[in-house]
Amino acid sequence: MDDATDLVCYCGGVDRATIVAAIRHGASSLKDVQRMTGAGVGSRCKELNPKGVCCHSDIRAIIEAERGSHTESASASCSCCAAGED
Ligand code: FES
Repeated sequence: MDDATDLVCYCGGVDRATIVAAIRHGASSLKDVQRMTGAGVGSRCKELNPKGVCCHSDIRAIIEAERGSHTESASASCSCCAAGED
């Protein structure tokens, strides 16, 4: 998250500032952020994200940092890590 681009979701091209803005406009869960920003709904995380993983943990960390409270644990997934869900 601290890289030069400040990009959080590489699939959706969504940066930290966009996610923070969504949280400040009422997003309180990963699903809210997904719906409001388009982050976390991609399917090419392993290819596009330098971390090689989905951005969900980074999004949750931003939500927790901004809201300073516990948020939902899991349940919303992008297509690359939705195996076994729904
Ligand atoms: S990096 Fe965010 S959905 Fe792939």
